[in-house]
Amino acid sequence: MNRSQAIFPGSFDPLTNGHVDLVVRALSVFDRVLVAVLDNPNKETLFSVKERTAFVRESFQRQGESVQVHTFSGLLVDFAREQEVKVVLRGLRAISDFDYEAQMALMNRSLNPEIETFFLMTRERYSYISSTLVKQIAPFGGDVSSLVPPPVAAALEQKLALR
Ligand code: PNS
Repeated sequence: MNRSQAIFPGSFDPLTNGHVDLVVRALSVFDRVLVAVLDNPNKETLFSVKERTAFVRESFQRQGESVQVHTFSGLLVDFAREQEVKVVLRGLRAISDFDYEAQMALMNRSLNPEIETFFLMTRERYSYISSTLVKQIAPFGGDVSSLVPPPVAAALEQKLALR
């Protein structure tokens, strides 16, 4: 069977409920979503690539085979070519996301004209959530349980307790 597939790339440091919602909604359009966690040793992250990947895996258990979890390094277009997937999926929360997203989509297209970027508008209730804000709130004891999946909330609590 020729499955329709999309790659959902990101740093996922950490995965948020906004990311989860986007992948679940994308599954009504694509047969399979490959969540691709960026492993970039030059970028400092709160969670290791192993931890970030584990959060994704745990959070999409219910989706079974239709969500695959990968790590990638280097260029996204090279990873897409390796996986033989031509669609990159990204979320848009607000106009402020547009510049960065348009730049990446056009750059990726210039690197490989066969790759198309599809954008899904974030659900309103998640439009203010970002991994960056979650990392700012959690150290001060702010409740992040409605912003991130349970494994992420537990890991944030544990990581901060160790500090
Ligand atoms: O969650 P993020 O940090 O906004 O995701 C950015 C990501 C991982 C999609 C982007 O940085 C990426 O694709 N990096 C891989 C390197 C690459 O291909 N860069 C050229 C694209 S402009």
